[in-house]
Amino acid sequence: MKVAIIGTGYVGLTTAVVLASLNHDVVAVDKDEGKLSLLHAGKTPIHEPGLQNLFDKVRHTIRFTSDVDEAVPEAKVILIAVGTPLKNGEADTQHVKQAAIEVAQVCHPDRRYTLALKSTVPIGTNRHVAKIVEKVFSARGIRGNVSVASNPEFLQEGLALPGAFYPDRIVVGTDCEDAVDTLRRLYRPILEQTFEPPSLLPRPVGYHLPPMVTTDPNSAEMLKYAANTFLALKISFINEIAGLCEKVGADVTEVAQGIGLDSRIGPRFLNAGIGWGGSCYPKDTAALLGIAAQSEYMMPITEAARTVNSRQREQIVEKLQDALKTLRGKTIGILGLAFKPNTDDIREAPALDIIRRLIKEEANVRAHDPVAVENARHALNGFPIVFASDVCELTHNADALVLITDWDEYQNMDLGVLAKRMNTPLLIDGRNLYDPQEAQAAGFHYIGVGRRIERT
Ligand code: UGA
Repeated sequence: MKVAIIGTGYVGLTTAVVLASLNHDVVAVDKDEGKLSLLHAGKTPIHEPGLQNLFDKVRHTIRFTSDVDEAVPEAKVILIAVGTPLKNGEADTQHVKQAAIEVAQVCHPDRRYTLALKSTVPIGTNRHVAKIVEKVFSARGIRGNVSVASNPEFLQEGLALPGAFYPDRIVVGTDCEDAVDTLRRLYRPILEQTFEPPSLLPRPVGYHLPPMVTTDPNSAEMLKYAANTFLALKISFINEIAGLCEKVGADVTEVAQGIGLDSRIGPRFLNAGIGWGGSCYPKDTAALLGIAAQSEYMMPITEAARTVNSRQREQIVEKLQDALKTLRGKTIGILGLAFKPNTDDIREAPALDIIRRLIKEEANVRAHDPVAVENARHALNGFPIVFASDVCELTHNADALVLITDWDEYQNMDLGVLAKRMNTPLLIDGRNLYDPQEAQAAGFHYIGVGRRIERT
């Protein structure tokens, strides 16, 4: 099937590569010439495990262009995957609307299209986009034939490819029956799992065929916000419990394990720690509250999830302050800058927030990350930070080490060696990555999030 994808960010590029590898005929459009030249040179602009490898295999079949006219007229499906950044407490849909206008301007009057929005958008946007498209057609003096659908994306950074090939579900929200049929055909190889798994992405053992959930556009838009908000509050809930564990001498990792075994609760997204960051939960929970406010509706649970999340970051700094008495002139090593492992994305990353607070307290900050240093350097331009090239440099004469991103490589470090390099061997484990007893045996004064510490 011929597919035009507008936007080559995390969602657009992953979708382009996955659909191309399923033998669809893909043209991807982006206005960012820098991104396009990287893509033309065969390089993916983002760090996403397996993406470069798969891109190498299919890139000769994907066309990248800045011109919608080269992509849209011949396409059967047009997917809009542009950003909807937060603006004044709302998701800003200007890029989505602009993309819809540009698409409608070049649609062939005699062809039938399905226009699906993958971007996360406020409730009502799909129906509004359908009206925009109609308006452009009437200005062109044509009837046009575009069925608009919401096709929300559930891509998890760091796990984008497994999530795309082996999703839990595919959601389509539309008022047009033909759009359901077209999108079912587009996703058929995934819905029926008829493709040969790429070499690095074997089909998970026990994986079941994913259902396609069909609904109306407003419900599909709401479903996406509800999914992200639920996950954000699940994390905030376990973080709230972690705080109480610290007060009463319980261990949150054991509590999480025990409650997660209840199949009604489930074990995932119960890792207590520094809280959530990234481009989605902070933005989507804020946008949902914005939507609620417009309807004069209170959402105290969503508000509380956000409050708990900011408190997690503050508490890390407070724990440092308690242990070191003052932060002024102290050297703090930050392990991890990305908002989660396996990505170079630093949007709303807890590390950046914590670093800014530490610098305000006049601490000397050193930071390390396996892949996100360049992005962080850019975001923290003007802040006095030393970016360490390895963990040894980070720990040399440091007063504390703060683990912020739970990269695998941090798990396997020799803590005994690191503790000896430090001025005061204090380890604040913001992700509960280490075993408290092992860290203590290695010579660290260990402080986790909601951990029971038996002092040795
Ligand atoms: C999230 C959703 O998981 C995706 O389904 C959705 O498509 C995406 O938002 C989006 O709307 O685009 P993402 O933000 O990439 O994906 O990452 P998550 O894996 O969900 O993690 C978000 C944050 O929660 C990270 O900072 C992570 O460290 C934190 N987290 C996650 C915890 O603190 N504890 C946990 O148990 C799990």
